[in-house]
Amino acid sequence: MKTSAAKTFLDDVINGLSLAQKQLSPKYFYDEFGAEIFERICTTPEYYPTRTETMILKNNVAEIARRIGPNATLIEYGSGALEKVKIILEALENPNALVPLDISKEQLMVAAKKIRTEFPHLNVLPISGDFTKPVELPKKLLNAERKVAFFPGSTIGNFEKEGAINFLKSVRATVGENGLMLIGVDLQKNRDTILKAYNDEAGVTSEFNKNILIRINRELNGNFNLNEFEHAVTYNEEHHRVEMHLMSLAVQTVRISGINFHFDLHETIHTENCYKYTHQSFSRLVEAAGFLSADSWTDSEGLFTVVLLTNKFRQKF
Ligand code: AVJ
Repeated sequence: MKTSAAKTFLDDVINGLSLAQKQLSPKYFYDEFGAEIFERICTTPEYYPTRTETMILKNNVAEIARRIGPNATLIEYGSGALEKVKIILEALENPNALVPLDISKEQLMVAAKKIRTEFPHLNVLPISGDFTKPVELPKKLLNAERKVAFFPGSTIGNFEKEGAINFLKSVRATVGENGLMLIGVDLQKNRDTILKAYNDEAGVTSEFNKNILIRINRELNGNFNLNEFEHAVTYNEEHHRVEMHLMSLAVQTVRISGINFHFDLHETIHTENCYKYTHQSFSRLVEAAGFLSADSWTDSEGLFTVVLLTNKFRQKF
């Protein structure tokens, strides 16, 4: 018997590879190995988002901590290695709890254990799973004084507009009227800088992209030949997004759990979109979800921004 997670993965792969433009959801990048490869992407010289956002957080953490206030409960969406949240936790007055949410269970457990030893007074309550689905907070947190959603890395860029709005709405419901969201956003800039960030010299991003095929081979009994697919990146000017694809280098048939999928020469599987925003286009997006951009912090080159969102309908007193 397949677990229900494996069944969903198989269904998603079959449906995605049956479309005219074949596609796979980027959430499937993050198995144990993918999560590790992603950490390596973050240290490549071309991948500016991680180091830029980290610097923005460090440079403005006193002000961010003041805006958040005492006794906060942080909920981190897609918490990964939990590196960035530490910057904030260190500056907060008496943080109450941290709820890290991540799809990569192995990484989540290791990171949660580590952060418990570094912040022994903090309640660390990890939840593994797909954070795009509504999450149920542990009961003891429902009355927490101030809930703050933390969503760094510009992962919001993975969503289509409608998906982003729905996700932001569900976060707004989770943090409540008095809640906040602190979110990292990658800004529009010259396409060359962006393309290089998703196509690093050392080939780490290529390895990350192809890992999804290795995962299908292993978990879903697939027979992708990794040498017959190539990492391909384009910048879509119309939609302000970088696209990652896996391009077939031959006419070929791939078998997954007994089902055949045909590939033409140079046909691609679209594996990821990373939308890039302006301050203005991002403000419009969050307002459609009932948030307000209350404050933002940006690096001097204007590469990346960290935005603090408040509830648009909050009663003033
Ligand atoms: C984790 C979605 C923020 O969009 O930059 C990095 C993923 N993909 N390199 C991004 C990613 C290829 C990353 N996010």
